[in-house]
Amino acid sequence: MSNKTGTPSTSTDLRDGYTEQQQQHYRKYLQQLKNEFNERWCKKPNANINFSDLERVRTLGTGAFGRVVLLRHSKQQKFYAMKVLEKEKIIKMKQVEHTLYEKRILEAIRFPFTVSMELSFKDNSYIYFIMPFVPGGEMFTHLRRMGKFEEPLAKFYASQVVLALEYLHYTNLVYRDLKPENILIDKNGYLKITDFGFCKVLQGRTWTLCGTPEYLAPELILSKGYGFSVDWWSFGVLLFEMNAGYPPFYANEPMKTYEKIVAGKYRCPSSFNPDLRDIVRNTLQVDITKRFGVMRNGVMDFKNHKWFKGIEWEAILNCRWPPPYVPKCKHPGDSTNFERYDEEPMKPASYCRFESEFFDF
Ligand SMILES: Nc1ncnc2c1ncn2[C@@H]1O[C@H](COP(=O)(O)OP(=O)(O)O)[C@@H](O)[C@H]1O
Ligand SMILES: [Mg+2]
Repeated sequence: MSNKTGTPSTSTDLRDGYTEQQQQHYRKYLQQLKNEFNERWCKKPNANINFSDLERVRTLGTGAFGRVVLLRHSKQQKFYAMKVLEKEKIIKMKQVEHTLYEKRILEAIRFPFTVSMELSFKDNSYIYFIMPFVPGGEMFTHLRRMGKFEEPLAKFYASQVVLALEYLHYTNLVYRDLKPENILIDKNGYLKITDFGFCKVLQGRTWTLCGTPEYLAPELILSKGYGFSVDWWSFGVLLFEMNAGYPPFYANEPMKTYEKIVAGKYRCPSSFNPDLRDIVRNTLQVDITKRFGVMRNGVMDFKNHKWFKGIEWEAILNCRWPPPYVPKCKHPGDSTNFERYDEEPMKPASYCRFESEFFDF
């Protein structure tokens, strides 16, 4: 049987690390994915679902610009998650450009560990993004419930995040909001990264201050021009948090959190073994010339690190690695893995608001 990278492999050929030859081969696959991304980026997508067939079930999450609601398709037995953004709030928070990026990126990305979009539209007051529903809930919920992840589970999730960031960066996308709230678990136990609200196509460097305080990289806080390195820093924060149960840099006020981040000051719990400490130290590295992910060997510094010993990267990519944990999902529309939120009616205005600002949507 041939897998997604075109290299024949079976689940029995477990091997440590990743050879340069395998990586070269994999880069060809990434190049193909990038070409496909660019094609979709340039053309208008065809919608294959009809909005009138969708009925609202409940709210799955809320955010600064709106909410995400679960939808049921009345004809197919299918469920969708719809992100609803209020135009007025987007304007007030000066996020029109970011939201346009979010839409175009969601339309164009396709990777096993990222969500993508089926349909988008707008009305007088709102912008709507419709994606497949990921029923396992946020990594955040499971992490808080379990306290911390057992190491095999943390490794399993970390390996998928490495592959997802490698794909995004290869496609020139910087993600900028990696955290457990934005990582969903699918019914098969594998991850889907959601929320491309801060993601953008990166040419050279960028300066925008965005993200979530505990996950911000020092170079971003210090208003230096930055690049893909910020995502690897957030990955370091995530690695720490999955294994410890709490983030490495934390204070009551964001300013104090920032002081700790730029000083690179954190303490690993005694439960961290030497390999884990080593990978965390190299990822939460303030000096970007020494940070894993952006040095000469790129992502290979992760793929061949001792902490990932035993992980077979192609089995992960092809979802053939047995997941250490599978969330309970009783049926395709089961939303019990999501917290409860107050429901609010959506009332579009009787006239079109901010028509010119949202002309391109
Ligand atoms: N495709 C999806 N399936 C299931 N739940 C989702 C999906 N996309 C988003 N959510 C839920 O909605 C929440 C908010 O969505 P997100 O895109 O992160 O919005 P915000 O930009 O407001 O943070 C997520 O944290 C997640 O709980
Ligand atoms: Mg989010």
